[in-house]
Amino acid sequence: MTTLSGHFLRAAVIYAVLGMAMGIHMASSHDHSQMPTHAHLILLGWVSMALYGVFYRGLGDVAVSKLMLAHKWLSHIGLIGMVVALYAMFSGVAAMEPLAGISSLVVLLAMVLFGVIVFKNTEG
Ligand code: HEM
Ligand code: HEM
Repeated sequence: MTTLSGHFLRAAVIYAVLGMAMGIHMASSHDHSQMPTHAHLILLGWVSMALYGVFYRGLGDVAVSKLMLAHKWLSHIGLIGMVVALYAMFSGVAAMEPLAGISSLVVLLAMVLFGVIVFKNTEG
């Protein structure tokens, strides 16, 4: 079974490949209109998830709590919702703005949960 740190590190490299492919497509087409989608996919998908993975690996992959499970799934749901909404909005579908708003709140909630996990596990 994959550990929580392994899950985040694996997810991070998948998001990195997707984000870089998008960057190469933007660069080669000279169409940078999806820049915010690329930036958030890479920074939340690759950078943030890799940091989560490194943190959980540093913890020694303790038993996965309900809080950690919530952090895991909300991180993905928020990121995917945000990327889909941003992609649609920067393709001209303004009606997707509510999804961007809701998914940003999910991303924020996931980070707050991560904050609680960090504070609980970094005493002393
Ligand atoms: C194959 C790799 C990559 C390619 C081809 C690529 C390509 C691009 C392009 C074409 C832009 C638009 C620039 C503009 O319009 O000013 C951009 C923006 C951006 N990229 Fe990438 N990128 C790549 C990887 C990365 C990585 C690894 C990161 C972060 C770890 C990253 C973070 C960003 C950010 C934050 C922006 C927005 C910059 C701004 O606000 O001006 N990119 N990228
Ligand atoms: C709740 C989550 C977030 C929301 C709602 C949000 C929203 C925004 C907005 C509205 C912009 C301006 C876009 C524009 O002017 O076209 C922006 C830009 C940017 N954000 Fe975020 N952001 C979030 C999370 C993050 C995180 C976690 C990172 C980095 C780890 C990040 C990195 C950036 C960067 C580098 C830019 C400039 C690139 C660009 O213009 O697309 N954001 N963000």
